[in-house]
Amino acid sequence: MGAPVDDVLDVRDISVSRGEVPVVHEVSLGVAPGTVTVLLGANGAGKTTLLDGIAGLAPAASGTVTLAGATLTGLPTYRRAQAGLGYAEQARTVFRTLTLEQNLLVSGDGDPAMVYDIFPELDRRRTLPAANLSGGEQQMLVIGRALIAGPKVVLIDEMSLGLAPVVVRRLMGSVRELAERGIGVLLVEQFANLALEIGTRAYVLRKGRVVFDGPCEELRGAEDRLHEFYFGAVTDDGLAQAAGTEGGSS
Ligand SMILES: Nc1ncnc2c1ncn2[C@@H]1O[C@H](COP(=O)(O)OP(=O)(O)OP(=O)(O)O)[C@@H](O)[C@H]1O
Ligand SMILES: [Mg+2]
Repeated sequence: MGAPVDDVLDVRDISVSRGEVPVVHEVSLGVAPGTVTVLLGANGAGKTTLLDGIAGLAPAASGTVTLAGATLTGLPTYRRAQAGLGYAEQARTVFRTLTLEQNLLVSGDGDPAMVYDIFPELDRRRTLPAANLSGGEQQMLVIGRALIAGPKVVLIDEMSLGLAPVVVRRLMGSVRELAERGIGVLLVEQFANLALEIGTRAYVLRKGRVVFDGPCEELRGAEDRLHEFYFGAVTDDGLAQAAGTEGGSS
C-alpha cells in the first residue's frame, strides 16, 4: 500500500492483552520477504505477546495482520498457519516419545526434505525418539516443525534459550539460510548482537510499544544505545525511566 518494498508480513496498530491486562499497544511492524527482521526488548517487554497476537494465539483487541496480501486478522491460529505463517514458540518442547520424523509429520502437511536440507543433523536422526536429541537438535526440530508446511513467514521466539554459544551460532546460520531461500523471518532474540548480524531491520519493544524502528546496522555494537532503548533514557537524576526490573548489569 504505497510502501517502497512490499512486506510479506504487515502488522498494523495491533494491541494485545494477556487476560484483562493490555500488554502490547498499537504496534506496527513489517517483514520483507527473504530477510530477517529482529525484534528486541527486555524481559517482559511484550515480545512473545506480540508474536502470539500475530499468530492468533492471543486475541488482538485492535489492528490488522496481513500476510502476502491476505488478511489474517481474526482468523484462528491453524488458518494463519495454512496461509503460510510458521511459529516456533518460546520454550516450545518436542514430543519426546515420538521419533524426530514423527514430530515433523504431526506438525502439518508438508515435506520434511526441506527441513533436513536446512538441518542436516536432523536427517541423520530421523528414526530416533526426540528425547534422545541434544538440546540444540531439539531446538532445530522445533524450528523444523514451524517450517514443515512451507511458510512464507516464520516467527522464531528465543531459540537460543539455554544453548551453548557454538550451537547458537549454528542456528543463526540456519536462520540466515531460511531468509536466503525467500522466507521472511521475524526473530526474537536475547543475544541481540548475533541477531543484529544477520538481520536487516530491527524493532525494539519497551513496555509493549515500539521505541526503535530502523536498520539493524544502527544498533550493531551500540550497547549503550540498545540499553537505553530497552530500559529508557537516563534522566538528570541518573535514573532509568523504566528501571526497576534490571537488577544490575548484563
Ligand atoms: N499468560 C500470561 N498471563 C498474564 N500475563 C502474562 C502472560 N504472559 C505474559 N504476561 C505478562 O505480559 C508481559 C509481557 O510478557 P511477554 O512474555 O510477552 O514478554 P517478553 O518480552 O516475551 O519477555 P521474555 O523476554 O521474558 O520472554 C509481562 O508483564 C508478563 O508478566
Ligand atoms: Mg518472550
